[in-house]
Amino acid sequence: MNQRNIVLAITGASGSAYAIRLAQVLLGAGHHIHLIVSSAARQVAAQELDLKIPADDAPIDEWLHFTKTALTTETAAEWGFAEWSTDVTGTFSVHGVGDYSAGIASGSFLTGGMIICPCSMGTLSSIACGSSTNLVQRSADVHLKERRPLVLVPRETPLSLIALENMTRLSHAGATILPAMPGFYHRPDCVADLVDFVVARICDHLDVEHSLVRRWSEVE
Ligand SMILES: Cc1cc2nc3c(=O)[nH]c(=O)nc-3n(C[C@H](O)[C@H](O)[C@H](O)COP(=O)(O)O)c2cc1C
Repeated sequence: MNQRNIVLAITGASGSAYAIRLAQVLLGAGHHIHLIVSSAARQVAAQELDLKIPADDAPIDEWLHFTKTALTTETAAEWGFAEWSTDVTGTFSVHGVGDYSAGIASGSFLTGGMIICPCSMGTLSSIACGSSTNLVQRSADVHLKERRPLVLVPRETPLSLIALENMTRLSHAGATILPAMPGFYHRPDCVADLVDFVVARICDHLDVEHSLVRRWSEVE
């Protein structure tokens, strides 16, 4: 399959496991990930999974090792994640959240789309008003203006009117609002199954091959 540039931004909403699983699937499917991690995302990952996310300028091998092993913490094992053994054919670039000189800050840099997973209400709101105050927001703005796929995976509950209106505005502007809202009809056995359900829907929206969950017609 053709390798595509896919921007993956991880922001500080609950659900670090979604992002890590998604990165694993993108790498397994052979894509080039342009990763941006907000500082709040680092705090959330430490809180939820005892994870220390590498520094933005860490060697790519360290990022690769992190992505492969991040779901082997004690918590992740309790959630039912197994060791990740898929061959990696994809590649990585990591961009600092304040680095506006990154290619992905410009519309002339071609990508196959962008995913913000999980997406905080703060980032959602900044994109909805076009403020572009960091690379996540700027790159999202570029995807909207260039009419390229932008998938936002918000997580918050309940949702304020402000958040709902921001989502409506972004949907009108061309983004896909894909909340971290797993279904249960595939009879999940564990947390990992719920995470895979959401990641599968994200991959479907960007035509990324996966075999994470059985599709509805395949469920007995
Ligand atoms: C443990 C933890 C969990 C959080 N969960 C959420 C959440 O589910 N949704 C959300 O919108 N913000 C959540 N926040 C707050 C955001 O991290 C905060 O608003 C931050 O400013 C978002 O910044 P960012 O969008 O640049 O990552 C959480 C923060 C922490 C520390």
